[in-house]
Amino acid sequence: MRDEDLSCALLVWYDAHARDLPWRVGPAARAAGMRPDPYAVWLSEVMLQQTTVAAVRDYFHRFTRLWPDVAALAAAEDAQVMGEWAGLGYYARARNLLKCARVVAGEMDGRFPDTREGLLALPGIGPYTAAAIAAIAFDRPETVVDGNVERVMSRLFAVQTPLPSAKPALTALAARLTPAQRPGDHAQAVMDLGATICTPKKPACGICPLRAPCAARQQGIAADLPRKTPKKPKPTRLGIAYIGRRSDGAWLLERRPEKGLLGGMLGWPGTGWAEAAPAEAPPAPANWRDAGEEVRHTFTHFHLRLALRVADLPGDCAPAQGQFLPPEAFRPSDLPTVMRKAFDLARGQLGAR
Ligand code: ADE
Repeated sequence: MRDEDLSCALLVWYDAHARDLPWRVGPAARAAGMRPDPYAVWLSEVMLQQTTVAAVRDYFHRFTRLWPDVAALAAAEDAQVMGEWAGLGYYARARNLLKCARVVAGEMDGRFPDTREGLLALPGIGPYTAAAIAAIAFDRPETVVDGNVERVMSRLFAVQTPLPSAKPALTALAARLTPAQRPGDHAQAVMDLGATICTPKKPACGICPLRAPCAARQQGIAADLPRKTPKKPKPTRLGIAYIGRRSDGAWLLERRPEKGLLGGMLGWPGTGWAEAAPAEAPPAPANWRDAGEEVRHTFTHFHLRLALRVADLPGDCAPAQGQFLPPEAFRPSDLPTVMRKAFDLARGQLGAR
């Protein structure tokens, strides 16, 4: 089948089966002349980096309710934005989101650049996001390649080279299929196909619009592709977190430094995280007791086992690390997931007030 016929078959499928996503202008509305809001496309694409649509939906609604346009987001308090991002992970995205909003609102009159090159110059916008926004928001014929697209291409053309080595070849195949007409819908169609039919484990080849031309299906190997070079096992790191509550109910918390893991997020003071067991490093003198259970959490490059110490702190406590946050200013939902898990385990052991 010719490339044009493949992308045409995909668009026909998309017109009938596009997912209804809150940031999306679907094919019918688009045909009626509606255009997507670049702010919504940008926000959703940043949220969708390394994160599923299911996880993003509620965050997207909350963000757009709080900050309906880029000027509103640019004017937001850093701590509030970081708190609203809590739980989504990859927190550098939130810091760059704010930086980007401030550039667009402050220097570009609130208008996002409408080309891949212009978008690439903005904080937090890499090649994937620039191509996605240019295609989806501005209908530029850019090639958008995420994990879904790689999977679809590897199967359609039966590419046996394992990932990540296969990336350039898969990108070239995706570029070949990108049409001059409706490139934004095309990009979304390939992603939707990958998310709903050409799924990692049990692809639904029986209902796939590309089942006839799909080389992997013809060879009976669709579910085996893409092949992947085995990853190195993740090391385990150890740490200790200290969860202290003062007699007036205030919690001892710290704002983590901008640079590094969970940068800019709120957290419990504690030791560094390393493969060797850490020495105790209480943030304030107190009768710290072991919480009995540890938190387990997996980051991109390591597993963490975080031991917990809890203490009721005196009213005149002067911590060497962290700051007290009064109970009315502390929202557990502002914590990144690992710190939230620690709180959920420890809270029952501290004097309730
Ligand atoms: N995943 C990332 N961006 C997407 C989009 N615009 N549509 C569908 N899935 C996506």
